[in-house]
Amino acid sequence: MYKNTRKSPVKRIGILTAGGDCPGLNAVIRAVVKRATSLYGIKVTGFLDGYWGLMEDETVSLDFDRVSGILTQGGTILGTSNKADPFRYPTGKKDKEGNKIMADRSDQAVTVFKKHKLDALICIGGDGTLIMARKLLDKGIPTIGVPKTIDNDVMETDYTFGFDSAVSIATEAIDRIHTTAQSHHRAMVVETMGRYVGWLALFSGVASGGDIILIPELPYKIEKICEFIKWRKSTGRRFHIIVVSEGTKPYQGKLVIKRQVHDSTDSIRLGGIGNLVAAQLEEQVGCETRVTSLGHLQRGGTPTAFDRILATQYGGIALDLAAEEKFGYLPAYQKGKIVPVTMEAATRDIKRVPLDHPLIDIAQSTGTCFGV
Ligand code: F6P
Repeated sequence: MYKNTRKSPVKRIGILTAGGDCPGLNAVIRAVVKRATSLYGIKVTGFLDGYWGLMEDETVSLDFDRVSGILTQGGTILGTSNKADPFRYPTGKKDKEGNKIMADRSDQAVTVFKKHKLDALICIGGDGTLIMARKLLDKGIPTIGVPKTIDNDVMETDYTFGFDSAVSIATEAIDRIHTTAQSHHRAMVVETMGRYVGWLALFSGVASGGDIILIPELPYKIEKICEFIKWRKSTGRRFHIIVVSEGTKPYQGKLVIKRQVHDSTDSIRLGGIGNLVAAQLEEQVGCETRVTSLGHLQRGGTPTAFDRILATQYGGIALDLAAEEKFGYLPAYQKGKIVPVTMEAATRDIKRVPLDHPLIDIAQSTGTCFGV
């Protein structure tokens, strides 16, 4: 094993996991801590529950032994939160309507960071977390990012860790729905997560041979889906698998939301488009329909081998970036290689499925309908 063979001016770092969890978070933490302690002799402090721990000074000391055995564990040993934004943090007061009053309390994050005499902070998260990390960098906290999310919507990287695991879980679920659809001659609508992008629905839909795949990038026309189902029926097909991403809208229609929230980094909870599609199908083609929303199943449990390897590489390279004082960067996966990209480039927008993505073309040519 390495014994502090690499020198770095960085002696102590902090690490946190923020936003929605996903498989692979512990693999990143393990890689960061093991490489930091064995290769550089850097000490690591974990902040609990994302930026909340940084604001409230809730920490845990992490060493080689503490992170042994967590590679395959789902979730995050540090905990996470999508409610703690240092720039929009609860003041503890409520307005007349009972909503929590938020304020910029990022100075508190700087104070806590300095109190621990840290030289860098590794922030593992999706676009929201990375935007906060970039803003903290501007305030003087030297941050490094790591791109996480089952949605795969972070720019500048082909894959975020967690995505492959979610695709596998969703694929297995759709495979199982396939057999019951066949037995009962039903239309089965499966709603996946993915927020405003269709990567998860597209990949799991193609992997499971979904007949119809609906994604936010291609607002669907119900008449196209009905035509397709009628054609399937005319050829003797008696069941239909429809995979729909939660952020999909009908053409010229609205997002279907579960509810609006005021104290979270994302004010909209998506969900329910599957029910709308099912109701439209029952009404217009009269097929017996059932809906399954895969929900948080897609985020739980052990990471796939691909995600374990990706997360381990991300953690190791993120640590190197911190040790080399390359702040404001994150490791990204581009064409099979891990490369550093700036947080600014990674957060300038969300990464949508391009309409000329080869998988859409291949899926269409193998008989999948996208409702357009
Ligand atoms: O961003 C990951 C994700 O799982 C989305 O796909 C989904 O819309 C959202 O988080 C759900 O978040 P929550 O943890 O608030 O239920």
